[in-house]
Amino acid sequence: MRIVLIGAPGAGKGTYAQIIRDKYCIPHISTGDILREEIAKGSELGLKVKSYVERGLLVPDEIVIEVVKRRLEQPDAANGFVLDGFPRTLEQAKALDRMTRVDAVIHLVISEEVAVKRLSGRRICPVCNRVYNIYYEPKPREDEKCDYDGAQLVRRPDDEPDVVRNRYKVFYETFAPIIDYYKKTGRLIEVDSNRSVREVYPALEETLRRDGILKLKPCREES
Ligand code: AP5
Repeated sequence: MRIVLIGAPGAGKGTYAQIIRDKYCIPHISTGDILREEIAKGSELGLKVKSYVERGLLVPDEIVIEVVKRRLEQPDAANGFVLDGFPRTLEQAKALDRMTRVDAVIHLVISEEVAVKRLSGRRICPVCNRVYNIYYEPKPREDEKCDYDGAQLVRRPDDEPDVVRNRYKVFYETFAPIIDYYKKTGRLIEVDSNRSVREVYPALEETLRRDGILKLKPCREES
């Protein structure tokens, strides 16, 4: 299963990608996570992209395309993946089709109002990258601590309200051509993501099964 999750900031791309990863044991590939890791390491790539990510601007296509190409060449991606945050431009969408087969592109549709509230409550584990929210499920069981490794949860610097507003603007500037591109090739699935995770995830999974895209069996018991 090779699927892509797209949607505005806060739409839940990372949330559903993690659920699918944990349930079906296929890698969750997030360009945002990869870029933030490189920034944290202070690598050459991290230094190049830091100012774009911190301001909520898109990193240049040639850099992100190379990052994804290298990641998809890793053996764990050979039998499927959930791609989160890529493509964000038509150029990236075309490059992705040159790299691999994409079975479905799920557009998580969300209103700006709902997304802004979610991002203000988002907390992230710096060790395992799991995402929580202090207002909504999934909430951490213990205040501000990761359920899995106990690490102190952190906020993303680009979840500051001004940066969030800029990310919205940037997202909508490049969004329409991507949607048209995937509609024309019959791969676009739209899911209303304004609802709770408990409502959205089953709807998403049901759509993928109905369309014959999800044929995998869970690799572990649901918790
Ligand atoms: P990236 O990390 O990809 O950020 P984003 O697309 O702005 O999306 P978010 O991670 O903010 O939101 P999400 O949809 O994953 O929501 P989440 O599941 O966390 O990119 C960051 C930056 O990197 C970009 O600005 C850019 O600079 C650069 N970049 C990355 N990819 C690039 C590319 N391809 N090209 C160029 N530049 C690139 O959910 C949000 C919160 O809501 C969480 O707290 C979650 O728990 C909660 N939540 C989720 N669903 C629900 C629900 N149904 N009900 C209640 N709460 C919910």
